[in-house]
Amino acid sequence: MSTYENYHKTSQVYDKTRTAGGVDIILNAMEEGNLPLSEQVLLDAGCGTGLYSAALVNKVRRIEAVDLNAGMLGMAQEKLQSEEKQGRISFHQSAINSIPLPDKSVDAVMINQVLHHLPDDADSGWPEHKKVFNEFFRILKPGGGLIINSCSPEQLELGFWFYHLIPDAIKAVQEKTIGIDTMADQLKSIGFSEPRQEAPLDLILQDEAYFYADGILDPDWRSGDSIWSLVEDKTLTDVLEKTQNLQKSGKLENFMLKHDQTRKTSGQVTFTVAGKQL
Ligand SMILES: C[S@@+](CC[C@H](N)C(=O)[O-])C[C@H]1O[C@@H](n2cnc3c(N)ncnc32)[C@H](O)[C@@H]1O
Repeated sequence: MSTYENYHKTSQVYDKTRTAGGVDIILNAMEEGNLPLSEQVLLDAGCGTGLYSAALVNKVRRIEAVDLNAGMLGMAQEKLQSEEKQGRISFHQSAINSIPLPDKSVDAVMINQVLHHLPDDADSGWPEHKKVFNEFFRILKPGGGLIINSCSPEQLELGFWFYHLIPDAIKAVQEKTIGIDTMADQLKSIGFSEPRQEAPLDLILQDEAYFYADGILDPDWRSGDSIWSLVEDKTLTDVLEKTQNLQKSGKLENFMLKHDQTRKTSGQVTFTVAGKQL
């Protein structure tokens, strides 16, 4: 469960601004597995409203979708009810550090934009991440693959134009975000292969909604990015006022374009792919 985002509330509006970005990267990684894609069982860890499961359910044999939040899971179940009836997807309300699936039961695990919600930090050595990666290792069949989609601490700084308005929240989320190298070291210490990492520069988490400059003024738009839950009330009031002033003076679009430049070279997300060796 996220310690800061109210996913019961967010589940109602999450799909307004979020899409399943990077599905091609996930498919490419799965195609390196032992079995043809259409025979593979995929775990969607922290499935949320099921955006990624919906994009992949017709490509694989079956999906096991896990999320701790009943609101998010309910939206996923609603979206995929006919596939659930056909036995193509099963839903589990569970924490991802203790998943109700047997050892060596899935061919691939994907985890999209979930890790920064774990109650963890660098000072304690990221023990929750380790528990979760160990759980994935337990559930994966030998030869299976793990695909992690997360933002690096650097991408949080450079990849989102509106974060310039909320520097304290960037710091707060960076403290909850494991570095890409530390993650790779953890994975190897558990027994995964040397991870491969890729930051697709054209992938934008909110798709076209990212470029709605006045989205900041819309609570539903802000709900599409959990960083807003880390913004203090007083700061939010100031940010809304600044955004309204930029809008009134016709400068909001330029503000967005100016602060979006660094995203083009940093990207917003990194995919980390590692295998459980045979
Ligand atoms: C930002 S959403 C991502 C949802 C989905 N993977 C996507 O990319 O559209 C994060 C999700 O992780 C879930 N989550 C956070 N911590 C979790 C945990 N420890 N165990 C299971 N689910 C968790 C939340 O309930 C939420 O649905």
